[in-house]
Amino acid sequence: MKKNYKVIQWATGITGQASLHSIIRNPRLELVGVKVYADEKNGKDAGVLIGGNPVGITCTQDTEKIMGLDADCVIYCPMPWDVTEMCAILSSGKHIVTPCPYWFPFTQDREDAEKLISACKRGGVNLHASGINPGGIAEMLPLTLTGLCNRIDRITMTEYGDCRDYGSEGVIRDLMNLGRTPEEADSNPVKDLLTSFWNEPIDMIAEGLGSEVINYSSEHNYVLANQPIETASGTIAKGTIALNNYRHIGKTKEGTEIIQEQIWFMDDICQERLESKMEIPQDSGWRIRIEGDVNLVVDVRLDAPTQPERTAMGISLTGFHCVNAVEATCEAKPNGIKTFLDLPLITGTMGSYSVFN
Ligand SMILES: NC(=O)c1ccc[n+]([C@@H]2O[C@H](COP(=O)([O-])OP(=O)(O)OC[C@H]3O[C@@H](n4cnc5c(N)ncnc54)[C@H](OP(=O)(O)O)[C@@H]3O)[C@@H](O)[C@H]2O)c1
Repeated sequence: MKKNYKVIQWATGITGQASLHSIIRNPRLELVGVKVYADEKNGKDAGVLIGGNPVGITCTQDTEKIMGLDADCVIYCPMPWDVTEMCAILSSGKHIVTPCPYWFPFTQDREDAEKLISACKRGGVNLHASGINPGGIAEMLPLTLTGLCNRIDRITMTEYGDCRDYGSEGVIRDLMNLGRTPEEADSNPVKDLLTSFWNEPIDMIAEGLGSEVINYSSEHNYVLANQPIETASGTIAKGTIALNNYRHIGKTKEGTEIIQEQIWFMDDICQERLESKMEIPQDSGWRIRIEGDVNLVVDVRLDAPTQPERTAMGISLTGFHCVNAVEATCEAKPNGIKTFLDLPLITGTMGSYSVFN
């Protein structure tokens, strides 16, 4: 079968490895390059890197070599991401799909949005930020569900995450502040960035409903560990944050509230290792609640017997959602930042090839 799109995987952390799986399996995509940072990954075959059979594509740390490849699209999954690098990729004529920002940056980060739009125009390409939260369950799914509703007073998306098996210090500690003291969390240089992360899906929902947000507010509550907790991202020390509850609220000009809530914790749902308990209805997953003429509650759960499997599936969704958006992103016109409001329905793709066959 003819492969339709040549794709580069950029960074192979937990999310990047999931998307690498998905690129290799997808019959319409051809893997043409893999950019890595770690010395031990440099020179490895991409299929072998993810524990499968060789696929004939060698991972490289050489950014220039990757940038010089003939490719349609880059699945960009580094931590940290770099807007200048993203602009260079776009200017070189390669589309980007990414789980990193910018999902709907037009209000929260106009400056970066303008840089990225200019780079898209220079390269004749598009940028689409996807993933799960943000980038899927945060805004695309609630918006889809509003199509079933009439008057809408409040939309709440809550993510519950037992994060003990998420082995990314960059995401868990640097971004989410788990394992940090409340003082460190408060002075975290990415604090404002985190706020704009959650305001972007709020803005996108408002725009999708034909409105705009006129007031933003937020709350941060946390619970400390009452003992050391071993996790895939290292030990969470006693007295540091072991449960984070962020709520970001946007109010539209009509008075509708749009709420993004995260409850990330480093214990099981019984929370015996935490100084106090919070009511958590499910150990990992998402709840979307729409209140208005109808009161709609949709729970999205990962059906797995163990928490490590649930975590792995949760991260895989992030990578798969990005890869499934390659075709829509490459075909969208006119060039620029393409959000879920611009793209057609993103679906999976048939095909049974696996790197493990
Ligand atoms: N939207 C969503 O729903 C969602 C969900 C999860 C994650 N994310 C985002 O996706 C990105 C990847 O997350 P992850 O879970 O894969 O994290 P991760 O496991 O920590 O992977 C990050 C990768 O970045 C690369 N890296 C190392 N040093 C770097 C540097 N100095 N500059 C740039 N990249 C460097 C490494 O690639 P190599 O291993 O190839 O050397 C590393 O594995 C993050 O930016 C995260 O915020 C988004």
